[in-house]
Amino acid sequence: GRVAVIYGGLSAERPVSLKSGAEVLRGLKAAGVNAFGIDLGGEGHDPLQQLVSADFDRAFLILHGRGGEDGTIQGVLEMLGKPYTGSGVTASGIGMDKLRTKQLCSGAGLSTPAFAVINSDTDLKQVEEQLGFPLMIKPVHEGSSIGMARVTSEEELVAAVTDAQRYDSTVLAESWVSGPEYTVAVLDGQALPIIRLETPHQFYDFNAKYEADDTRYLFDTQLSSDEEAELKELVENAFQVVGCRGWGRVDVMLDEQGCFQLLEVNTAPGMTDHSLVPMAAKRAGISFEELVVRILRGANR
Ligand code: DAL
Ligand code: MG
Repeated sequence: GRVAVIYGGLSAERPVSLKSGAEVLRGLKAAGVNAFGIDLGGEGHDPLQQLVSADFDRAFLILHGRGGEDGTIQGVLEMLGKPYTGSGVTASGIGMDKLRTKQLCSGAGLSTPAFAVINSDTDLKQVEEQLGFPLMIKPVHEGSSIGMARVTSEEELVAAVTDAQRYDSTVLAESWVSGPEYTVAVLDGQALPIIRLETPHQFYDFNAKYEADDTRYLFDTQLSSDEEAELKELVENAFQVVGCRGWGRVDVMLDEQGCFQLLEVNTAPGMTDHSLVPMAAKRAGISFEELVVRILRGANR
């Protein structure tokens, strides 16, 4: 049948999805799959109309951010009766919401950094008193580190919250965790090799993710095999608790006490040539072409 690679979208992560979509489409074609691309919302098209009128049997979803990774498109495809890759409506919605992910996972006994929720009427003095500095400020429903900042003073806090509120009315303040940061790709519910991230910048921000050449991606995790097993178990548990399906990527920090702290679950992670899921797959002996075919197979339930 025909496979629609659905990419682009209208979120702040559109530029990333354009790159991911191009890679996925290239990979599927190279593997002999009858695939074509739909740039959702591109050139002023109505996304719903595009989905309803396109001729395809299965969808490979590689939209990042709101209006794509958050369950909305998944719901449309459910109504159209078209199988699609990755997580369903509910898990996609939770995964896009860093606050709900934290609440759900901590309720299930998984550790996540201490946090406070910031709305338009929140007293930032209280946040500072509750958590202290440094803090990470994050829009609740964003990806690719968009709108994120590390702050160490009241002035920085005010500025960072104002900036994050440009992207989202709900903002998360999280206690700073020193790291290192680890990311673990999941394929068919199983963790792939762990990647340790090293950046000379303050944190793994948008520039470090997609543009800089000074970010290091290391399979030398500096963890014991017991710690690696613990991290993989945390990742697989988080994937399950959120109710994810097929593939994804879970981001985790190691804290000063040696405890893993769950940051978030990505249900449609990046597939650009700088992205981490393809890197982890390659390490596991899975080529990019094999990876996209395996993700696609997950759409046939
Ligand atoms: N949100 C970006 C695309 C990622 O998780 O890779
Ligand atoms: Mg994310």
